[in-house]
Amino acid sequence: MKIEDLFSLSGKVAFVTGAAGGLGLIQAEGLAEARATVVLSDIKEEKLMNVKENLKKKGLRVDALKCDVTNEDEVKRAVEKVVSKYGHIDILVNNAGVTYASPTTEYSLRDWEKVLRVNLTGIFLCSREASKYMIKQRRGKIINISSVYGLMADISPELPYYTSKAGVIGLTRQLALELSPYNINVNAIAPGFFPTEMTKPFIEDLDALSCTLSKIPFKRVGMPDELKGTVIFLASRASDCITGQVIVVDGGWTIW
Ligand SMILES: NC(=O)c1ccc[n+]([C@@H]2O[C@H](COP(=O)([O-])OP(=O)(O)OC[C@H]3O[C@@H](n4cnc5c(N)ncnc54)[C@H](O)[C@@H]3O)[C@@H](O)[C@H]2O)c1
Repeated sequence: MKIEDLFSLSGKVAFVTGAAGGLGLIQAEGLAEARATVVLSDIKEEKLMNVKENLKKKGLRVDALKCDVTNEDEVKRAVEKVVSKYGHIDILVNNAGVTYASPTTEYSLRDWEKVLRVNLTGIFLCSREASKYMIKQRRGKIINISSVYGLMADISPELPYYTSKAGVIGLTRQLALELSPYNINVNAIAPGFFPTEMTKPFIEDLDALSCTLSKIPFKRVGMPDELKGTVIFLASRASDCITGQVIVVDGGWTIW
């Protein structure tokens, strides 16, 4: 097979959650640049529609659907719409995520449950719905966005975030095993430090930024293309024999 065919997503349909900005948008753009038809989804409808128009202007094949990953009915409807419009769903990127920083002694049950609901239950719901179709197709690629904080502890007080991201890794392994008879790959990406809305407070706080960068061997944040490359790889034929794994994209942060 030619190298360009190995990585091409031509003819594939992808559904990306939390794609109105940040890493979701970067990954959606990357998949579309690799020739997939990409359905972007997010809870923020207006931002989502603007992003879709911008990507269309770049000549990319994209669509958009409002979807709150914690809403079971919305998730079901969104996946159904993708399949009824495009005939199949080949790639699911479970990217939507939230966090709130607060010491554990002051963490409200409401916020704890919200973080777990978006970061973990959202992945369960989207994977459940998409895999129903992927099983019939006897193919599919599910890519879950974890974090280096699913692999290690750090000083920022975000207990449910670390817990949820470790949970994503466990979910990835178990779901990979369960879906393996159907030729469905389930893998996770654990990004390190990328500039987005989520990491803005750390980037604006120069002490926090230099403390984090001092722990990253490459002494820099991640670049959009570095994440695009990883998601395209996991969505493409090049990764057909990889399942249940976590690819860490962190400039070496976790190798200490
Ligand atoms: N930025 C980083 O350095 C970094 C590092 C490791 C992991 N991550 C993970 O990458 C993913 C994206 O993070 P980001 O940095 O782009 O954050 P972000 O806050 O910039 O983007 C998150 C997106 O998810 C959407 N979202 C939130 N709740 C949702 C819901 N219930 N349903 C649908 N969409 C929802 C938001 O509207 C937003 O567009 C998250 O899972 C995050 O944990 C980010």
